[in-house]
Amino acid sequence: MAYWICPSILAADFARLGEEVDQVLEAGADTIHFDVMDNHYVPNLSVGPLVLNALRRRGVRACVDVHLMVKPVDRLIGDFLEAGADYISVHPESTEHLHRTLSMIKEGGAKAGLVFNPGTPMTYLPPVIDLVDLVLIMSVNPGFGGQAFIPQSLEKLVEARALIDSSGRPIRLQIDGGIKIDNISDAARAGADSFVAGTAIFNTDDYAQTIGALRDAIATTS
Ligand code: DX5
Ligand code: ZN
Repeated sequence: MAYWICPSILAADFARLGEEVDQVLEAGADTIHFDVMDNHYVPNLSVGPLVLNALRRRGVRACVDVHLMVKPVDRLIGDFLEAGADYISVHPESTEHLHRTLSMIKEGGAKAGLVFNPGTPMTYLPPVIDLVDLVLIMSVNPGFGGQAFIPQSLEKLVEARALIDSSGRPIRLQIDGGIKIDNISDAARAGADSFVAGTAIFNTDDYAQTIGALRDAIATTS
């Protein structure tokens, strides 16, 4: 599976979001990671489906993976399907009925992601793995950009990689939180194939150079 670099819009300049998204795609990003926070499931507030819809109307055709940090989550799924999400990822703690929530995403025509916080056990995955297209391992507690990478997440990646491989399904394994040029290769070695990076990309001046450096660092693992 090709490696994906997934810039998180959370670290972009929201006053120029359209431009920022265009620039990061031009610089070689594979997907746009769209962080949605509700000041309830996580202690922060970001953007909703109207903003995704505005990006689509602007002409953004690229793959957008929506990371929902909202509770309850079900009611917003239809809105994000309509707004043009390609992937919709949910936390098991954000729904009473995980199988139903993942089924709603799939039936709506999007790919479904399942997200694991540092304190969430991987035992949620096997019962629903047939519905899952992406496993997202959080390497920080969700809610904020710019936090430090939690090293135990590497063990989580190894565990997730083994479950994915034994399922035989083409599931992406994404890592999110504190990913930088100097630790991305550890995540790749532990089994990740998709790398969310917010501040590591948007806090630099030359997005193409930064994305290139992230890819070079991954290449050192193979
Ligand atoms: C955290 C978000 C992340 C965050 C990553 O709750 O899910 O996507 O924006 O930001 P960095 O890469 O700065 O840790
Ligand atoms: Zn995220």
